[in-house]
Amino acid sequence: MRSTAVVVFAAAVSSLRARTAALSSGMAEFTTATTGRAVGSALASWTWLPEVNSTMEEARRLLRERAAVDDPSSGVLAVGAAAQLAGRGTRGRAWLGAPGNVFLTVALPFSELKLRPRRLLPLRVGTLIAPQIASRLAAPHGRRVALKWPNDVLIGEDKVSGVLIEMDGDDLLVGIGVNLRYAPDVPTSGADRGRRATSMSAHGADASDGTAEALAHAIAHAIATWARGSDDAPERVVDDWSALASWDAQLQLRDEGTLVAPLSLESDGRLRVRRQDTGQEQLLVAEYLY
Ligand code: BTN
Repeated sequence: MRSTAVVVFAAAVSSLRARTAALSSGMAEFTTATTGRAVGSALASWTWLPEVNSTMEEARRLLRERAAVDDPSSGVLAVGAAAQLAGRGTRGRAWLGAPGNVFLTVALPFSELKLRPRRLLPLRVGTLIAPQIASRLAAPHGRRVALKWPNDVLIGEDKVSGVLIEMDGDDLLVGIGVNLRYAPDVPTSGADRGRRATSMSAHGADASDGTAEALAHAIAHAIATWARGSDDAPERVVDDWSALASWDAQLQLRDEGTLVAPLSLESDGRLRVRRQDTGQEQLLVAEYLY
């Protein structure tokens, strides 16, 4: 059942013709209004667009637009799109933008995030995305939804979601792609090579029109709600992440090609692994821009 949210727009900040939802208590009131701010909501601004080059750049544009007319700490902004023409993945790789999948960027005011150490943030993001995916698969779908360090989401051994994190001034831009309807053919060699992909629909999820927007919104809302009370204990992040982790899936060190087996997550977010070639343990540090 869906109840109507009470939405108070504090300011109309854009003339953008976008499908915008302003939120209260986790319930969405979808409108075709201009982008606005819902007072008291975890997610301050939600914008859904039919097509963008990249939601990362769109988020940057919306942040500038907001800064021009609003106070600097005006909360979590999120923008999603039905299709993405020039999506970017980690390490400069491309990210397929087929309509029916989820393309989302959530902008978090970095200085307001209380979690320390900050290197745990990307891991926490993974623990917020994975349940949103798992809960939409047909049950029982037979494959475990799990996290590959730091925050790829896998179904079985195949990748269904990836996260790209960038800084923009004081904002942490969390870019999330989810293969809801389609799994791209991922190259096994060359600059764009990566893990084999799957889609949620291949595991029984509803991927009909409108579901990408609903899933994008649910993920954005989960992240914004977490960000509002982000004085998370580091041990809880480590425990939550470890419970969801894909401990059986070997990782390949990108530069060397060496296979490593994950062993445990350190309290600062580094992953302890065992190298297949030498049998020695090693700590992996994810590359982030903060
Ligand atoms: C990865 O390589 O695993 C990360 C993929 C991140 C893709 C998302 S889709 C929404 C946002 N916009 C982009 O251009 N990239 C991210």
